Amino acid sequence: MKAILIILLLLISLSAAYAAEDDQVSLAVKDPKAMLRLFGDFQKTYSRHYSRSERRLRLQNFNSFVKNADELNRMDEDVQYGITFSADLTAAEANRLRGINQTALFQDTAESATSDDDDDDDDEDEDADEDEDTADLKIANDVRYGPIKDQSPCGSCWAFAGVGLLEGHAYLTTGHYVALSEQEVIDCTEGSGTNGGSLPAGLRQVRDQNHLATEADYPYQRNDGWCNARQHSNALPFRITAVNYIKGDNNLFSALQDAPVAVAMSFPSALNGYKSGVWSDRVGQCAGTPLNHGVVVVAYSFQYWKVRNSWGSNWGEQGYIRFSRRVNNLCRISDSVKTISLQKTSTVEVEE
Ligand SMILES: *[C@@H]1O[C@H](CO)[C@@H](O)[C@H](O)[C@H]1NC(C)=O
Repeated sequence: MKAILIILLLLISLSAAYAAEDDQVSLAVKDPKAMLRLFGDFQKTYSRHYSRSERRLRLQNFNSFVKNADELNRMDEDVQYGITFSADLTAAEANRLRGINQTALFQDTAESATSDDDDDDDDEDEDADEDEDTADLKIANDVRYGPIKDQSPCGSCWAFAGVGLLEGHAYLTTGHYVALSEQEVIDCTEGSGTNGGSLPAGLRQVRDQNHLATEADYPYQRNDGWCNARQHSNALPFRITAVNYIKGDNNLFSALQDAPVAVAMSFPSALNGYKSGVWSDRVGQCAGTPLNHGVVVVAYSFQYWKVRNSWGSNWGEQGYIRFSRRVNNLCRISDSVKTISLQKTSTVEVEE
């Protein structure tokens, strides 16, 4: 009884928090003073310190971000939009948060088509096979992740997605989570860096070197650097034997039974202000967006895919976002899925 009451109170206060955010945004659109207050709060929350001239530009960006969030809140009732870390960015800076290299992506797609990979694009609806019970969240093979990472302001999503995939497999091998090094992948993958890159190229690089340090050993620098792998010990408890390409919602679903997966998908600019809810692209922004962002699909329910982003934990639902499964291949989430095959190399016991 007490527990129910506490949950109820929690729910009420949670919805109040969301409502307050929506209200703040819509108030700021109508009242310049409220806008300035919101901007001040934003600067405090995200430790932004500007020069006088920069402040003007940032306030302009912030203004249009808030207006956009308010508009989206009215057009898309399923999702809450509000102030995030990206509220003061220019369009170019916001774009740089994606960073799947389109040339490399095209080349990889061509390569995967000629390889002997599972290319089953037949998306007959097999949802009937599922119990009503699957409305509950199912974590991909029960892999637990550590804190959300923050790639900003760099276009290194491809490295974060690839490393997220490897962290998932490392968890399954050892029974615990260890953060692994994006910087090593960034420094050592030729033709990819903090201005964009290729997810499979990063994975192949780790496979070929058979090496990946821990994040603590080889931390993120937000810059391209020299490949320093050999100065650090290898933290991978397995050897990658293949980088696999998968396509289609059904195959994505099947893959998630074994492990989390990395995907390149369309991540429209509206998502910069995403706070919570199940995104179903109500406003229709994915169609014009290329496969520009690398993320990890970590869980699913009957209604949605749960995706781990690398934009810090203040963005979205503690750093995560839910994409609707009711729309087939929403935002091309299952067009470019990457998994790995592996051979265990460590003798570490799996702990419960
Ligand atoms: C994108 O990929 C292509 C082909 O791999 C490469 O030549 C180009 O330098 C890459 N662009 C960036 C910005 O890294």
